[in-house]
Amino acid sequence: MTAGTRDERDGRHEWQEWRGWRAAAQDALYAPGGFYRRAEGPAGHFRTSVHASPLFAGAVARLLCRVDEALGRPAELDFVDMAAGRGELTGGVLAALPADVAARTRAYAVEIAGPPAGLDHRIEWLDAPPEGATGLLFANEWLDNVPVEVVEVDAEGVARLVMVRQDGTERLGEPVDGAPARWLERWWPLPGEQGLRAEIGLPRDEAWAGAVGTLRRGLAVAVDYAHTAGARPPFGTLTGFREGRETAPVPDGSCDITAHVALDACALPGGRLLPQREALRALDVTGARPPLSLASTDPAAYVRALASAGEAAELTAAGGLGDFGWLVQPVGVPGPFPG
Ligand SMILES: C[S@@+](CC[C@H](N)C(=O)[O-])C[C@H]1O[C@@H](n2cnc3c(N)ncnc32)[C@H](O)[C@@H]1O
Repeated sequence: MTAGTRDERDGRHEWQEWRGWRAAAQDALYAPGGFYRRAEGPAGHFRTSVHASPLFAGAVARLLCRVDEALGRPAELDFVDMAAGRGELTGGVLAALPADVAARTRAYAVEIAGPPAGLDHRIEWLDAPPEGATGLLFANEWLDNVPVEVVEVDAEGVARLVMVRQDGTERLGEPVDGAPARWLERWWPLPGEQGLRAEIGLPRDEAWAGAVGTLRRGLAVAVDYAHTAGARPPFGTLTGFREGRETAPVPDGSCDITAHVALDACALPGGRLLPQREALRALDVTGARPPLSLASTDPAAYVRALASAGEAAELTAAGGLGDFGWLVQPVGVPGPFPG
């Protein structure tokens, strides 16, 4: 009898395998037992705008109301929280809607992971967006978690796929060709300088087009860490997050694996990109401090308003969440933002 290697005994035959980052991250994040399948949920490892403040859900609720108006106040209005985590945004939006709009709203949380215990009965939990929705599809920090291939320029100036083992060790593989090579050429051309890196956003473009394609009428919004042509990061942005800290990306299921999104490449005709700072200001999230006089007339209200101003400042901060990109994609309605 042979005892087998430790990995064979653990059923982890893939340990020694070299794979592209896309397949490695797909398994590490979404296979059974993967990072996003576990009970603690994304909030256990990092803070998105949704966790930073209820002001964010309030702004999304106001956006849903604008979409409702643009649609002529339909009898049934859909809110699709795409990549919903534990449904925190879905619940926050329902809580912030005016009663007459809430009564007409069908709320969907779309998530690969299962629903949390005690989910609000008004929220329908799905593993794919509903077909033919009329309303708002909102994807906060989804696309950065859609796995992509990483490429690196070798000593001869050739862009090659980066292969990775489950322990995070990398080596270069085959030259990039076909549709991924065409995507690079169009969206992220690499000068032939050794060591430069890029992430091939094609699976994100396709994922976004698929999600937008489920809307019959309304608005789709993707919010993410973003970069655009002319300002791509020269070495890419692939990174890991574990328990609130940035870490090396290791595709073993122990950490989040994320890379900023080429949101300009995702945009479909009619789509518009704007920074979160601008989008939230247009949705009445301002970091204005309350007047000092309120402190003496109503101290409790003053403290609440001050806390709220601090949260608004975090959501709109330069060098932080305020720099996130909003890709706003109207489907059969006018765009909701002026300018
Ligand atoms: C960074 S978390 C964001 C969670 C939430 N939107 C927020 O802002 O707090 C990304 C989430 O996307 C989910 N996800 C990734 N791909 C998905 C897909 N194709 N369909 C549904 N959910 C997906 C992951 O399981 C994970 O919960």
